[in-house]
Amino acid sequence: MSVQGTTKPITVPDLRRMKGTPQVWLTAYTTPMARLLDPHCDVLLVGDSLGMVLYGLPNTLNLSVDTMIMHGAAVVRGAKHACVVVDMPFGSYQQSPQLAFANAARVLAETGCQAVKLEGGEEMAETIHFLTARGVPVCGHVGLMPQSVNVAGGFRATGRTHDEAAKVMQDAKAVAAAGAFAVVVEGTLEPVAALITAEISIPTIGIGASPQCDGQVLVIDDVLGTFNDFVPRFVKRYAQLGPIISDAAAAYAADVRARVFPGVEHTFRKTK
Ligand code: KIV
Repeated sequence: MSVQGTTKPITVPDLRRMKGTPQVWLTAYTTPMARLLDPHCDVLLVGDSLGMVLYGLPNTLNLSVDTMIMHGAAVVRGAKHACVVVDMPFGSYQQSPQLAFANAARVLAETGCQAVKLEGGEEMAETIHFLTARGVPVCGHVGLMPQSVNVAGGFRATGRTHDEAAKVMQDAKAVAAAGAFAVVVEGTLEPVAALITAEISIPTIGIGASPQCDGQVLVIDDVLGTFNDFVPRFVKRYAQLGPIISDAAAAYAADVRARVFPGVEHTFRKTK
């Protein structure tokens, strides 16, 4: 069942039922971008990647619930069709299921989004169960978990050894059994991600994972090429907006310096 292209808003149960059907997820952080992406996507993910993409931070660790709520509410205002999922930031859910509920309830209530996403496998299963049982739909996130960058020692793909592969599989199964409606599988060896997809009952959403995943997610700025530094292997660039933006800024700067802008047509004058 694909609901892409319809105007009917996509719900969490719709996504849950789409196991086996390609799901299109993209990150969005602002209202104008949400409006542009909404007709094409099943999910707009307000990822904590916004810390790196929008705020120039080195990782995703220094984001507050308030910041995620501001961006989540902005994306909800731009979404008519796609389901909006907001990331729980580092420190807002790991301490206890109760703290996770208090923060997730704020995110749902203050943004109007439909679900939250949080990182972690077996160790977060109790929290995922606690949240879903109390009205908070949860998307899991296993494999490479950016909020654990300091434990892992970097952003490194996983599933290379037997133990790593077994761990990601156990994590995905634990998240599914705990009641998550979907799970992001990030930076995981392709056959491992494919096997997870075959073995669990909820949709898997891959990033640096496998084409066999039920859906795919990418960071929108990676897709659009708004920055020109390192392009990770798992990213496909569908546009190169960086040079276009730079050229536009250069043309504007030249016009201002030459006093060509503003032209007569851009100024206000008395008509009579
Ligand atoms: O923060 C994010 O954007 C994410 C996706 C890359 C899955 O978690």
